[in-house]
Amino acid sequence: MTTLIDGNEVAAEIRDGLADGIESLKAEGTTPGLATVLMSDDPASETYVSMKQRDCEEVGINGIHVELDADAPAEELYDTIDDLNADPEVHGILVQMPVPDHVDKRRVLRAIDPVKDVDGFHPENVGRMVAGHARYKPCTPHGIQKLLEAYDVETEGAEAVVVGRSDIVGKPMTNLLIQKAPFGNATTTVCHSRTKDLAGHLADADIVVAAAGVPELVTGDMLKEGATVVDVGINRVDAATEKGYELVGDVEFESAEEVAGKITPVPGGVGPMTRAMLLYNTVKAAGLQTD
Ligand code: GUN
Repeated sequence: MTTLIDGNEVAAEIRDGLADGIESLKAEGTTPGLATVLMSDDPASETYVSMKQRDCEEVGINGIHVELDADAPAEELYDTIDDLNADPEVHGILVQMPVPDHVDKRRVLRAIDPVKDVDGFHPENVGRMVAGHARYKPCTPHGIQKLLEAYDVETEGAEAVVVGRSDIVGKPMTNLLIQKAPFGNATTTVCHSRTKDLAGHLADADIVVAAAGVPELVTGDMLKEGATVVDVGINRVDAATEKGYELVGDVEFESAEEVAGKITPVPGGVGPMTRAMLLYNTVKAAGLQTD
């Protein structure tokens, strides 16, 4: 029997677990505040950011949203970040990625005050995480860690394959998997677009994290019987639906489900966990800034 990993359920538990922390911060006069900044016309990005704002409202975090025209001068974004850095009501800042090409992404990441960097993308926070003492773990890999823990997936000594080497998911996920216990100690391989034999690597994998952004790249015939399969992909592919598209993961669910021991669906797997860990980091940020 294959177990379907329910990200909505685990995310709800994480949100419930934040309630006490939020209440005690409020009792001390601090309402955690998260600023989201969107500089994009991409409908998917717009959806993600509005879901993050809705989450804030639901758990009692003060959500502040700033929207900039996708073709506005880059300086407007840098100035916005400066203002948010200086705003005592803002404890966390998230600039939705990707930003337009005329914006210097590295400058954006460096501009955010590292204590407010709830994405964990600032070089200082990346460094801390790689060194094994993270301040903010990036939300998607952290959410996957929580999912694996919730479903008792043993990482200790496991063969793990991360498919994809992005700064947002692949690299930090690899880092978490190779860290020492309590979570980690997995023998971890990173596959990417230049990997010659993806199937050969996946054949030995106890844990697969698919985060390449390629629809249905991983198929059931590549997987080891009983593997845990975590699908990070949210790809919009054209389809004859009301919206004109459907959401497809990086894993071909139908064939993978036949072979996997545990598997995440798309949607309802990793997505809700990413959002829950953003709230977690925001509450942590508010705590760090009120001491
Ligand atoms: N774009 C896709 N995922 C993320 C994320 O986790 N954080 C930000 N800021 N942008 C994203």
